[in-house]
Amino acid sequence: MDVIEPVRWSDDGAGVRILDQRELPAREVYRDLRTVEDVFAAIATLAVRGAPAIGIAAAMALTLAPDDQVASAAARLASARPTAVNLRWALDRMERAAEKVRGSPAELRSALRAEATRILEEDREMCRRIGEHGAALIPDGARVLTHCNAGALATGGMGTALAAVYVAASEGRKVHVYADETRPLLQGSRLTAWELTRAGIPTTVLVDSAAASLMKAGEIDLCIVGADRIARNGDTANKIGTYPLAIAAAHHGIPFYVAAPTSTFDAGTASGEEILIEHRGADEVRCGFGTLTAPIDADVYNPAFDVTPATLITAIVSDRGVHRAPYDFGPLAR
Ligand code: MRU
Repeated sequence: MDVIEPVRWSDDGAGVRILDQRELPAREVYRDLRTVEDVFAAIATLAVRGAPAIGIAAAMALTLAPDDQVASAAARLASARPTAVNLRWALDRMERAAEKVRGSPAELRSALRAEATRILEEDREMCRRIGEHGAALIPDGARVLTHCNAGALATGGMGTALAAVYVAASEGRKVHVYADETRPLLQGSRLTAWELTRAGIPTTVLVDSAAASLMKAGEIDLCIVGADRIARNGDTANKIGTYPLAIAAAHHGIPFYVAAPTSTFDAGTASGEEILIEHRGADEVRCGFGTLTAPIDADVYNPAFDVTPATLITAIVSDRGVHRAPYDFGPLAR
């Protein structure tokens, strides 16, 4: 199977190539982005999405900024999506790499390119390790419920939550994934189901509101989801709908796991109370995908993420291992 690369350098090396996730699953369209503004728009419109992937895309975008505009370009890119800490984390790394350069513009460019490539390669490696640690939590025959897309499409490697599934399957265990469709932008049905079926993993799509009754019917063994920001106490921001899923899992006594690379852990955030939640445009709910599904003048509440309290999380899987409360994630960059 071809490797999925949601973001990489363009073939001529002068831009950022993305797999446009707005087009999936109908079409596999790649776009070469040539300016910081192009990448900003791709992140803001979810052409590239998922916490690690937007960090990587933003890091690569800084190599496209004019030499004297690296700091302002970083500020602009960071504002594209406020909740995923990977975005700010990757841009901080790039700015630190730029500050160390004392030489010519060519040296600055090559230092930035090297750092962005390292961020991509390190993410690939972190995904692999998350997969190995997470797979140990997935028994043979497991029926696994996930939400949104925390797979290869969201990262520089094989994903976070889905990496655990991929590794368990590669070790010969049978795994069936139930993918919440994930309103309003359908990352679960459009993206998770696309990449899992492509990998030959049996997958069933369900509407988000069917998850609790599926649990009650005894059809789910465990839940595993990704994260956009994990606070020091383990509170976790992830796609809207994760919190009710965790409540339903707790009610039915089903383990609820979060999987994320250490770049998603925010030492600067003590608890979920401090996490800024992105709110998105009303038309994603009123007329997503071009069909009017609510009166065009209806008021809309459209938070992109919610916070699941640590008390509802059974364990958090990172590239460092499986963490359980009280959480100590080790040294973190932010
Ligand atoms: O709005 P999105 O599609 O970027 O939201 C993505 C998620 O919520 C993912 O679960 C999260 O970023 C983890 S991706 C490995």
